[in-house]
Amino acid sequence: ATNRTFTMLKPDSVEKGNVGAILEKITASGFRIVAMKLTHMTLRDAQEFYAIHKERPFFGELVEYMTRGPIVAAILEKENAVDDFRALIGATNPEDAAEGTIRKLYAASIGENAVHGSDSNENAAIESAFHFSGREQF
Ligand code: CMP
Repeated sequence: ATNRTFTMLKPDSVEKGNVGAILEKITASGFRIVAMKLTHMTLRDAQEFYAIHKERPFFGELVEYMTRGPIVAAILEKENAVDDFRALIGATNPEDAAEGTIRKLYAASIGENAVHGSDSNENAAIESAFHFSGREQF
């Protein structure tokens, strides 16, 4: 079925000037952009968005990374969007990511891994609502 996923081009992607190339890859892969903005997460935003990871040893590092500069947040629509987008971005650790995936091409490390992709339809909806109102979705 056609459904939606949520993505963030993380601060390292913006800092390195990779936003255009990553968006080109996303749209060339058949995703329609439903919503998109440049935004800067506050400390509280990042702590809430990543609350599921709050007991992990890398939580502090993750929050610091995600708040150090602006991100591009977007909602994407496609047949089988969640799974196909995770395939397009590749494994969390760029060392394990397949050739041609966004993380293989643009991620520096498991921590600074260039992009986010929702892991389920339910989380896609929650994460989309975190960043976008209904009026910002097309
Ligand atoms: P993502 O899977 O999008 O969401 C959780 C993030 O936590 C992950 O991307 C990485 O940015 C980060 N992360 C996951 N595992 C580690 C790790 N072992 N060390 C540092 N950061 C991590």
